[in-house]
Amino acid sequence: MMKKGFAVLMSAAMVLAMGTAVFAEEASFTTVAPGKLTIGTSPDFAPYEFYHIDENGDPQLAGFDIALAQRIADDLGLELEVVPIDFGGILTELQSGNIDLGISGFSPSPERAETFDFTDLYYTGGQAFCVAMANKDKYASYEDFKGLSVGAQTGSIQYGLAEENTPDANIVGLTKVTDIVMELLNGTLDGAFIEKDVALQYAKNYPELCVLWDVEYDSEGSAIALKKGNEELLAAVNGVIATALEDGSMSEYIAEAQALASDEENTYQGMLDANGEIIAEGETE
Ligand code: ARG
Repeated sequence: MMKKGFAVLMSAAMVLAMGTAVFAEEASFTTVAPGKLTIGTSPDFAPYEFYHIDENGDPQLAGFDIALAQRIADDLGLELEVVPIDFGGILTELQSGNIDLGISGFSPSPERAETFDFTDLYYTGGQAFCVAMANKDKYASYEDFKGLSVGAQTGSIQYGLAEENTPDANIVGLTKVTDIVMELLNGTLDGAFIEKDVALQYAKNYPELCVLWDVEYDSEGSAIALKKGNEELLAAVNGVIATALEDGSMSEYIAEAQALASDEENTYQGMLDANGEIIAEGETE
């Protein structure tokens, strides 16, 4: 009897504590638009974020970053608003207070961490150097790219990798990774630095693309970027990331995104823009 009474008391106390925790969480963070979670992303990066054509023929945002964004919004009781922004502009929008989170395969580099907060890692990836399959035997080392055109996304850590590894090349910054892939395939670019799993995804869709070798980089993995100082939102987002990793949902988001990005019904294979227009011409099969 005593025991039972104690158990009832305990669970009442626990419910009370949980209730307070939920209330505290809801009340403690602020977002740029009340009731909404506004995120910035650069949808040129399958399987992280890309456009695909849905069953009605309309372009839709997809990818495991988008699924994670939706999960964060749901768990925090907010409505998700996704703002597509070229990668090089996301951190500016964050700094200006126009978006709450940058969810776009961000590498939490020490330079960025001086100005922005980063969540825990939600994905582990790496970096790669790519060429056209037809040229794959032409190159033995980075020195062979002296005077040649090497691409990287503007504002990305890959641009830094290009400066570091191919300083004698003509380094070309492009706003979209999909343009980099297209220019590698049509021969405008000779080589390019691309996130490894993105390169592998596009190489699966476009066998003319070759992931030549791995590139070393210190800040491996992806994290979500926040404006400095929103500790409560940072903690809340970290909580959702931990749950999504633990309960297996993150693995599901990744598998779904990879399948969708290489969906054979989806003829344009990760190369669509917001209007459903194909970015790469002539290279679909
Ligand atoms: N991980 C790289 C960086 O943080 C590239 C991310 C590019 N993301 C994108 N959606 N295009 O600089």
